[in-house]
Amino acid sequence: MKDMLERLEERRAQARLGGGTKRIEAQHARGKLTARERIELLLDKGSFEEFDMFVEHRSTDFGMDKAKIPGDGVVTGWGTINGRTVFVFAKDFTVFGGSLSEAHAQKITKIQDMALKMRAPIVGLFDAGGARIQEGVAALGGYGEVFKRNVIASGVIPQISVIMGPCAGGDVYSPAMTDFIFMVRDRSYMFVTGPDVVKTVTNETVTSEELGGAKVHTTKSSVADGAYDNDVEALLQVRRLIDFLPTNNMDGVPEIPSFDDPARVDDSLDTLIPDNPNKPYDMKELILKVVDEADFFEIQEAYAKNIITGFGRVEGRTVGFVANQPMVLAGVLDADASRKAARFVRFCDAFNIPIVTFEDVPGFLPGTAQEYGGLIKHGAKLLFAYSEATVPLVTVITRKAFGGAYDVMASKHIGGDVNYAWPTAQIAVMGAKGAVEIIFRQDIGDAEKIAARTKEYEDRFMSPFVAAERGYIDEVIMPHSTRRRIARALAMLRHKETERPWKKHDNIPL
Ligand code: HXC
Repeated sequence: MKDMLERLEERRAQARLGGGTKRIEAQHARGKLTARERIELLLDKGSFEEFDMFVEHRSTDFGMDKAKIPGDGVVTGWGTINGRTVFVFAKDFTVFGGSLSEAHAQKITKIQDMALKMRAPIVGLFDAGGARIQEGVAALGGYGEVFKRNVIASGVIPQISVIMGPCAGGDVYSPAMTDFIFMVRDRSYMFVTGPDVVKTVTNETVTSEELGGAKVHTTKSSVADGAYDNDVEALLQVRRLIDFLPTNNMDGVPEIPSFDDPARVDDSLDTLIPDNPNKPYDMKELILKVVDEADFFEIQEAYAKNIITGFGRVEGRTVGFVANQPMVLAGVLDADASRKAARFVRFCDAFNIPIVTFEDVPGFLPGTAQEYGGLIKHGAKLLFAYSEATVPLVTVITRKAFGGAYDVMASKHIGGDVNYAWPTAQIAVMGAKGAVEIIFRQDIGDAEKIAARTKEYEDRFMSPFVAAERGYIDEVIMPHSTRRRIARALAMLRHKETERPWKKHDNIPL
């Protein structure tokens, strides 16, 4: 018996070594942790239960029958994050570059199936070169099985991917179908094909960083939702994100004890809006002053900065925030901002997270670049996402709500449940100057007349009261009481029920 126990320990120790000491050292020398070290940091101390540590590939081609490593390049199992169950798989770059074989795929799909059955979140830690080249179609089939499960689980359990090394092929497509992707700066790359293939096919010379580094994917492509300086920081931030997320689409938002008074007033908000309506101010200040303990987890912080998206809490319960940012492009809605916010709204709606919208938007961005880039379709995504949402929607117009953007940003007409405006709100088809130049074109040469017409227009429309007179705005509120008003609205809306006609699924303009 003692022998057997010792043999088990030996086999475990061998499996834990993955690709061996030399490759582990190489991994560390590149500033990366191993798969098991990463899991230790992600999960609560001592909570990891590993599955399938002795699984080996069954390939015999290209001498692979002599190259078997227990675990086969991926560490899988489950554990807890602050006490809540999470399933996890971590690619082990020290074993065949973390590449995916048929057996490796079966380990992942087992975890995906369990996560879905238990209705618990799943986190994938990626550091891998895609399909195992020696296995050919068996590996491609394995990816297909993983992809299909990503899609079936989408909208049922949160799926999070962390890119922690060079990732190619299936190891970027599977993350692309999950809810959030985070990267590690200067060490992680995502591309469908790497620089060598790019050079062969297009004769383009490009570095891994230029082709698919964290900067590219968080600022240009919007493939990734955030980037962190190293493995430790990335994993700690994933723990923080998990704390905001519901376990599944039925459980409702988590509630954590909060010592921040929901009725807390903030007098500084009364002077947040500058006297000059064309001067910017930082909308993030409003978000931080409204959420519990100024704790805000921003999604896609570096992309389309003219709109802010992220999670905060009110009375200890998770809320999704969408807010125009007047500091960037005056908070205008363009194609990128619309797409970014639409995806965030849909995530919140799928997981029953109420949405608070802070609005200061001068309209959609005009111009050929936007129109050729499909602004109509991308803008429609946001309009569609808000209109289909059945979660509680609370909107606060702080300043401009012009044109179509007024309708889009969770207006009463498309489903806003509680719509507030600050006294500084200006709800109109467009700004006074543009409006007067169109409807009083005959007076354009007469500066005095134009000034009088502009003032007339401003007095009539540059306020929240025309909308409030029609009931499109439920109340004009004091800026200092915004947190209290939002907290009360969200409490009232907690058990909101909305009936929609049966359909297989909608057809959002993709
Ligand atoms: C088998 C692989 C591998 C792979 C890497 N390795 N990728 N083995 N199959 N796909 C092995 C290497 O042979 C090497 O083994 C070890 O992993 C480390 O790789 P290096 O190349 O030395 O590391 P690095 O220089 O950091 O480059 C990492 C890399 C590169 C960028 C990931 O290895 C690479 O480009 N790999 C191929 C990527 C690829 O084209 N994959 C197929 C995608 S198709 P040794 O023994 O020397 O340590 C796909 C289809 C899915 O995934 C379908 C999508 C829809």
